[in-house]
Order: sequence, then structure tokens, then C-alpha cells
Amino acid sequence: MEFTRTLGRSGIQVSALGFGCWAIGGEWQDRAGQPLGWGKVDDEESVRAVRRALDLGVTFFDTADVYGTGHSERVLGRALGSRRDDVVVATKWGNLFDPDTRTLTGTDDSPEHLCRALTASLRRLGTDHVDLYQLHLADADPDRAARLRDACEELVAEGLIRAYAWSTDDPARAAVFAEGPHCAAVQHALNVLDDAPELLSLCEKNDLASVNRSPLAMGLLTGKHRGGRSLEAGDIRNRPPAWLRGFGDGGGADPEWLARVDALRDILTSGGRTLAQGALAWLWARSPRTVPIPGFRSVAQAEENAGALAKGPLTERQMTEVERVLRREAAGAA
Ligand SMILES: NC(=O)c1ccc[n+]([C@@H]2O[C@H](COP(=O)([O-])OP(=O)(O)OC[C@H]3O[C@@H](n4cnc5c(N)ncnc54)[C@H](OP(=O)(O)O)[C@@H]3O)[C@@H](O)[C@H]2O)c1
Repeated sequence: MEFTRTLGRSGIQVSALGFGCWAIGGEWQDRAGQPLGWGKVDDEESVRAVRRALDLGVTFFDTADVYGTGHSERVLGRALGSRRDDVVVATKWGNLFDPDTRTLTGTDDSPEHLCRALTASLRRLGTDHVDLYQLHLADADPDRAARLRDACEELVAEGLIRAYAWSTDDPARAAVFAEGPHCAAVQHALNVLDDAPELLSLCEKNDLASVNRSPLAMGLLTGKHRGGRSLEAGDIRNRPPAWLRGFGDGGGADPEWLARVDALRDILTSGGRTLAQGALAWLWARSPRTVPIPGFRSVAQAEENAGALAKGPLTERQMTEVERVLRREAAGAA
């Protein structure tokens, strides 16, 4: 049986797992040279991975105009091709960038930019509408964002987008968008090492989906950073900005986060799951509104992550056990 979820009050059905397309945008940086991508990627492998995901029943893809300064949207559009209408495409706007130098150049929270950005995303994705359009400025001014919410309502009326969301970890900001009738979701960080109870309550109260970025804690929950792992120079995790959690300067994984992954390993890998699959299973059990969107850059990762769908959520008992282990770890670390 297919494992699906609904994008809140929009009624849009998606596979319970989405695919996050940040990494497949390839390398890009800010003006100070801070890497904002995940290092080099092979576009042909990215296309194969997206198509494999489609074959395995994944019908939800999350990207942003700024990922790889337009490259992620182009690769996703190419990979979907004639299967575009079989899936739900989410993208984001709010950042300004120079594709020639692959550089983030600023932000723009005006309604005029919203319309310009949407036109450009539609062109790169090769489509005539975006299913879920998301504000990518997590800390934007709430009053200015209210104008963007109203502008999104107009775009829904014009048929250019079907629903919209704010990508923010701040419940007060998410609540501003929730007032719009066609707001369908909040995109926010959530994983077994980094819970977000307030945002989940807000989603419950307002009938919104909780689209989960960093569901694998940017790779920490796959177990491969145990024992140290060197990351490419162009990988954001190598020089993590302040908001990136779980990695220290120089790309080393935070030992406390790694200890928690180790402590959870047995529960998450029960039922024949890999660690990554267990991390996704925790998210599905956490709330019926969650839709994790793990990143990927290979067919193997696509297969493993999509394979989690067949195994479903953790049981209530396992969730209680996870809580107990995390409480014990927190007490030990204090
Ligand atoms: N709105 C925002 O501001 C925002 C911010 C962050 C992310 N997002 C969205 O959320 C998506 C996912 O979050 P995230 O990028 O933070 O990271 P994540 O999903 O927590 O971790 C993804 C990374 O884990 C590794 N990985 C994935 N599957 C694996 C597997 N089966 N086995 C081993 N390693 C695996 C890959 O990295 P390596 O192979 O390089 O180790 C992959 O790039 C993004 O793609 C993006 O769409 C949005």
C-alpha cells in the first residue's frame, strides 16, 4: 500500500517522503567565499537518482531558486521531463544570485521580486505552475511577509501556484503565513536529534503539513561521520555557518551529536532498517503531519531513502524508548 500524506488544508497528496534537491545544485558560495553547496555533483547521477525515486513511488520534490544559483531547478526539471504532472514540486524564493559566478548576492522581500522570481523558476523547472511556493527568508520581517502572503494568494488565483509556505524555524513567523487560506505547510528543521514541538503544534492547530528539512541532521544520522570523515572544500559542512547545527569548524561532526546517534542506533535500525531509514521512521511517528525531505546525490542514497517508505513509522513503544535514551544522554552530558 502506498504511504502518503496530505499537504495540510490544500488537500494535495504526496508520498510521505519528499526528496530535497539542495545538494544536487552543486557548488555555489556567498560573496565572502563561504561555501553554500555540498561540493561537486555529477548531474547525470542526480538525474538518474531523481528518476529512480520516481520509479520507487516518490512524488514530492523540494528545491529552491538559489540552490546552485538555479542549477538545482534545472536539473530537477530535466529529470522530471514528461513526468512533471505526476509529482508535486516545491521551490523557494527570496534570495538574489548571480548564476555566472554562482554567488549569492543578497535578498529581496518585495512582492515585485516574488513575481520575477516565480517567472524565472517556472522557466528553469520547465513547468507552468509551482505546487508549493515557499518563502526562503527564514528571518524576514513579519509585516513585510504578510504582504508576500497576500501576493501569494493572488498567484494562487492566477493558477501560477497551488499553495504556499514559509520556510522558517520561528513559530511566530509561521503563524503569519498560516493566516492565508492557501498556506499549506511550514518547512522547518526537524530530526530525532533536534525536535520542534512548538512548530508541530502550530501545524496541528492550523491544519498545515510539517515539511522537514535536515531530517538526517545533514548526514549525521546516516552514521557515516562516526570516526571522522573529511569533507570537500566546497561542502558547507566543512565551514559551517552559525545556523548549521551538528558540525564544528573544520567540518568535524559534534561529538555530542555523534554520541546521541550511537545511543539511538539499536532502536533506529530495528526491523531491518538502516540508520537513515530509522531516522525517517522517527519523523513519521513524531506526527501525522510530517513529510521529511532528505537530501541525496546518488542513486544508492535515493534507493535507501525511498526504501524507508515500505518500512513505515516507528512504533509508539520505540518512540518512548527513543525519548528515554535521549533523556539519559542529556543527563549524562549535563
Ligand atoms: N529552507 C531551507 O532553508 C533549507 C535548509 C536546509 C535544507 N533544506 C531542504 O531540506 C533538504 C534536506 O535537508 P539537508 O540538506 O539539510 O540534509 P539532510 O537531508 O539531513 O542530509 C542529507 C545528506 O545526507 C547524506 N545522505 C542522504 N541520504 C543518505 C543515505 N541514504 N546514506 C548515506 N548518506 C546519505 C547526503 O550527504 P553526503 O552524501 O554528502 O554525506 C545528503 O546530502 C535539502 O535538500 C533542501 O531541499 C531547506
